[in-house]
Amino acid sequence: MKILIKGGRVIDPGQGMDTKADVLIDNGKIVEIKGKISAKAQETINASGKIVAPGLIDMHTHLREPGREEVETIKTAARAAVKGAFTTISAMPNTDPPCDSRANALFLTEQAKKCALANVLPVGTITKGRKGKEIAEFFELKDAGVLSVSDDGDSIKEAEITRRAMEYASMVDMLVISHAEDASLSAGGVMNEGFTSSVLGLAGIPSEAENIVIERDIRLAKLADARIHIAHISTAEGVEIVRDAKKKGIKVTAEVTPHHLTLSDRDVKTFDTNLKVNPPLRTPEDIKALKVGLKDGTIDVIATDHAPHLENEKEKEFDYAPFGMIGLETALSLSVMGLISEGYLDWPELIQKMSSNPARILKYDRGTLKPGSPADVVIIDPEKKWTYSAKLGQSKASNSPFSGREMIAAANYVIVGGKVVVKNGQIT
Ligand code: DOR
Ligand code: ZN
Repeated sequence: MKILIKGGRVIDPGQGMDTKADVLIDNGKIVEIKGKISAKAQETINASGKIVAPGLIDMHTHLREPGREEVETIKTAARAAVKGAFTTISAMPNTDPPCDSRANALFLTEQAKKCALANVLPVGTITKGRKGKEIAEFFELKDAGVLSVSDDGDSIKEAEITRRAMEYASMVDMLVISHAEDASLSAGGVMNEGFTSSVLGLAGIPSEAENIVIERDIRLAKLADARIHIAHISTAEGVEIVRDAKKKGIKVTAEVTPHHLTLSDRDVKTFDTNLKVNPPLRTPEDIKALKVGLKDGTIDVIATDHAPHLENEKEKEFDYAPFGMIGLETALSLSVMGLISEGYLDWPELIQKMSSNPARILKYDRGTLKPGSPADVVIIDPEKKWTYSAKLGQSKASNSPFSGREMIAAANYVIVGGKVVVKNGQIT
């Protein structure tokens, strides 16, 4: 099927492209990008005033399938993804069973294919059963299409096991994603440790719980010559550690979530349990450092950490509610409002952080509009104003503190593998 996208602002950071042009898609692939294309197509889309870009890639999504399908399924997360302009999501392995074998990885990709919405990239576990003891079979995972491994949700306690995992990952060229948290320092904490936690009488999680493990894992990655990616970085010192490591040529990359860029520990005064996330929302000074880190290239990626939870689990006292908030449907708008509107990034830089860089870091052959590539394309209306309602969203869960917020920018069209899955903002 031929699709012709006419007159949009075509942004493809991988090719250094930001120009008004037409894009022709045929048979699931990008065929041509040129000033004017006159081809007969089954579908012609007028993209005037819109941005045409490679589909967004989320490096950090929690699906809850297999194991907790009542909370979120591959299908409901994939629906939320495409609604939010994502054409690929990376499925974190803290599921039941966790993705620690070839069969478990293939289950995810097969289920995703049946939904025919977003692509799903399984993230394998670093250790078998995510128990932090025995290293998983990376070679077997790699063979099943797994591009990265993580025990996300937990850090690996033992430095020695982390070192060996990195050596193995380096051998098979697998990306290691680090959830950096020293559990002995964060134990019992429910929010950022500081003035606000004292005022609110809530137990704190110090920044050092994160910084120490970022430092450790970067040092071990250097030792093992592995590629390490720091998940959901949240502290100013963490940004500084990554910046220094990059200067030394260590193969480190980092991601930040839209919520860590938007909300601070001060917001927790409402005791809204949707603000309970791990790592915790930090201080306004940390937010500033995260934005500067994005701007200067220290932080490569914006990733959601979409973490669905049931309403009755979140309707508890702050101390007892689970960590996490959903984010697939709000990530683009929050990033536009927090970064483009505030002058930290321009559109090409934002597309780079949400598509080209995730693809490059994962060594995934998407995140580009190069002719011959699979046609994962989004058409974004950069001016679209809308109000977010978590209840009316596509995710099965509604644990978001952003309900009722005025948003700017939305996916107008989403094309995955040459198939239109969102048309005029609606899932087809
Ligand atoms: O807030 C979080 N929720 N952080 C994590 O690392 C895990 C996630 C979850 O799975 O709920
Ligand atoms: Zn995590």
